[in-house]
This record gives sequence, C-alpha cells and structure tokens, in this order.
Amino acid sequence: MIPIDPHKLPVHLAVIMDGNGRWAQQRMLRRIVGHQRGAETVKMVVEQSSLLGIKYLTLFAFSSENWSRPALEVRALMTLLKKYIRQETARMMRKNIRYNVIGNRNDLPDDVNETLDEAMQKTAANTGMVLTLALSYGGRQELSRAAARLAQDAVDGLVTPDKITTELFESYLDTGGLPDPDFLIRTSGEMRISNFLLWQLAYTELYFTETNWPDFTINELHKALTDFQSRERRFGLTSDQISRRGDISNV
Ligand code: IPE
Ligand code: IPE
Ligand code: MG
Repeated sequence: MIPIDPHKLPVHLAVIMDGNGRWAQQRMLRRIVGHQRGAETVKMVVEQSSLLGIKYLTLFAFSSENWSRPALEVRALMTLLKKYIRQETARMMRKNIRYNVIGNRNDLPDDVNETLDEAMQKTAANTGMVLTLALSYGGRQELSRAAARLAQDAVDGLVTPDKITTELFESYLDTGGLPDPDFLIRTSGEMRISNFLLWQLAYTELYFTETNWPDFTINELHKALTDFQSRERRFGLTSDQISRRGDISNV
C-alpha cells in the first residue's frame, strides 16, 4: 500500500459518492443494488478516515435534486439510509465518531429524521471524527436559507449590514462550526460539483477518479490522499511565499 504521511492529511475530507447506478446497470442489476453495495464502501471510508486521524468527513449522500428521481428509488434510498444509521451507530460509538447532518431536513420523511436525531443524540459526546451526512442537500439552497435567516436577524434588529463579514455569513450556513474541506474526492468520472458545498469548496483541492463508488477501495483512498499530499496549496500567494512560510513554520 502507498505510504501516507500522517502529518499531511486533509483535516476535512469531503466525498461525492457517485456511480452506484452505473455500477449496477453494468452488471444487469437494479440501481438499488448499486446503492446497497455503495453503503459497504461508505463503511470502509468512514473506518479508514477515522483510523488515519481525519477530523472531519463529509459525505454527499442525497442531493436536493435527487428528490426528482423515480419515487421507487427515492424510497429505497431513504430505507437504506435508515438501515445504515441504525446498524452503524454502535460502531460509531466504539470508534468515538460523532454524527452530523447538513441539508434541508424539513423534506426528509419523519422516520428518517427520528433515526438521525437518535443517532446524533447518542453520538453527541463523542470526541473523535465528525461524520457529516449531506442529506437533501444543495449548495444554492443552503446559501439561500442562510441569506433568509440573516435577513430575519436584520429585521429583528440583531444584525446591521456593516456587521456582515464572510465569517458572520458562514455562521449562518449548515456547516457553521466546520472547517472548509481541504480535499474533495468524486468517483465515477464526472467532473462537476453538482451543487455540493458551493461556498465551502472555494479553496478545496479536487480529485476525480473514474472508479464507481461501489468499486472504490482502501487502496484508491490511499492513492487519493497521497495525491493530496503532493499539492501545493497557495491560497492566492506565490509559490515562493508558500515555501518561505513553510521554512518559518518548520523552525
Ligand atoms: C450516487 O450514485 C448515489 C446518489 C446520488 C444517491 P448514482 O445513483 O448517482 O449513480 P449513477 O451516477 O446513476 O451511476
Ligand atoms: C451527486 O450525484 C449527488 C450525490 C452523490 C448524492 P448525482 O448523480 O446526483 O449528480 P449529477 O446529477 O450526475 O450531477
Ligand atoms: Mg450520479
């Protein structure tokens, strides 16, 4: 296996888990079988990320736009989600992982929300990795919800326009309190963001692989993380400035 430098891991890893349907269709299986197999990859990535010491893992599990898929597939995904959370909560406790959810929970079925609340309550005191599930999530929807809440606070006299900074605005997002992702992996060969974390991905390093999510392995995860370690994150500075800063922080 490719060696990983534990000091150069992303603090926050985000993943667009894509290609379950194509994985199944290529095997003449129903799309839901692909989602079921995809859930096994989720277990592996959660376990590996927590073992490696990644502090925040955010998984795009269901988008705002995915509600428009055939009702049967949506229902099957909700059932699978509930089953996954119920089955995995004990393991999350053993691994000291805390559940978090972003997205418009008002649109989720009541039984899914109950399962999520239960899992979040149970794992609330865990101090290890924070596992955020993006459910019924869309970046534009999140931004407009944040703007609406901010406008309400302004109407209520709690905020004035001169107080609106990027930091203040960020605190209104679903991800308030989470650092921005350092690294984003998208499987299945699609090279787009699909309305995921539009604000938060501003300076994230992006990684795309052709592999469909159910086929994504530990080895591929390590390969992606090794690739991340070779990137120079400049944040608008020059390469010279970055290496000088590195010299200083190494002293
Ligand atoms: C990702 O796989 C899972 C969800 C979006 C819920 P897809 O279901 O999008 O798989 P493809 O892209 O159709 O192959
Ligand atoms: C993005 O995948 C959403 C999730 C992985 C949950 P999609 O399969 O929905 O994205 P598009 O439609 O190909 O852009
Ligand atoms: Mg897809």
